[in-house]
Amino acid sequence: MNDFDRIKRLKKEKNAIILAHNYQRGDVQDVADFVGDSFGLSQKAVSSGADVIVFCGVDFMAESAAVLNPGKTVLMPELSAQCPMAGMITPGSLKLEKEKHPGAAVVCYVNTSAAVKAESDVCCTSANAIKVVNSMEEDEIIFVPDRNLALYVAANTEKKIIPWNGYCPTHHLILPGDILLEKEEHQDALVLVHPECRPEVVALADKVLSTSGMLKYAAQSSSKEFIIGTEIGLLHRLNRENPGKKFIPATRYAVCPNMKMNTLGGIIRALERGEHVIKVPEDIRKRAKLALDRMLEVGRGD
Ligand code: 13P
Ligand code: SF4
Repeated sequence: MNDFDRIKRLKKEKNAIILAHNYQRGDVQDVADFVGDSFGLSQKAVSSGADVIVFCGVDFMAESAAVLNPGKTVLMPELSAQCPMAGMITPGSLKLEKEKHPGAAVVCYVNTSAAVKAESDVCCTSANAIKVVNSMEEDEIIFVPDRNLALYVAANTEKKIIPWNGYCPTHHLILPGDILLEKEEHQDALVLVHPECRPEVVALADKVLSTSGMLKYAAQSSSKEFIIGTEIGLLHRLNRENPGKKFIPATRYAVCPNMKMNTLGGIIRALERGEHVIKVPEDIRKRAKLALDRMLEVGRGD
């Protein structure tokens, strides 16, 4: 029996669902029941009727699924698939920042630990960051941990944004020169970039979108060529879903090694052995859930 059939059989036996992020390896995306961006994955985790969720992404995504679904078993095939940006803020350092700005609300990017979410008023993803910030009553917003997303939001809102100094090492590898070089060769191509990119890269974009926002935009656009400024795993779906269109990665170096740790073998082991179970202490889970629920209520922005 091949890996795909084995996974299919195990999923049925365990009443399991596989959720995968748009940056996963192509074969992991192909075996998943749902592939999406962080916002779509959070929504799917809530609406699925499965007993077991195998999460193919990074730590904070599986943790969010566990926060939202206390009655379900959430499994991560590879525990070392951790987002470095999420590690750039701790609950303690956020508490200190809150003391400095007592009148400010805290909006945390979903790329954070459950403990940081528990210290925040609301979460957001790249698909709804501006919408979430604008939904807040407070005029001052502490925005953590991605400074690039914070700067992008600041340029598109009346609110005063207090950015944290975190960043995504993968999106930082996309440089303005990469976009300009590709633009010279593909003059009619539209430039789509993720808001985790440096501001100098965002300034060169025709559209700034989440990963699923890029998929939707590329499918609906009459343009035939696109330069893609995000992790290269997204090209798998872009190419598959748009056979007549051309997608050029801004740089082939934009690879997130953590996202690539999940494999078909890892999924089989996760389902067979029931590992690795993601659990969040109940006091943190309840407070983090408030921030995630609020984000889901605000809805998707792009
Ligand atoms: P989205 O798919 O939500 O745009 O997120 C990108 C990302 O880097 C997740 O870690
Ligand atoms: Fe974290 Fe960046 Fe990898 Fe997303 S692409 S998981 S933000 S390191």
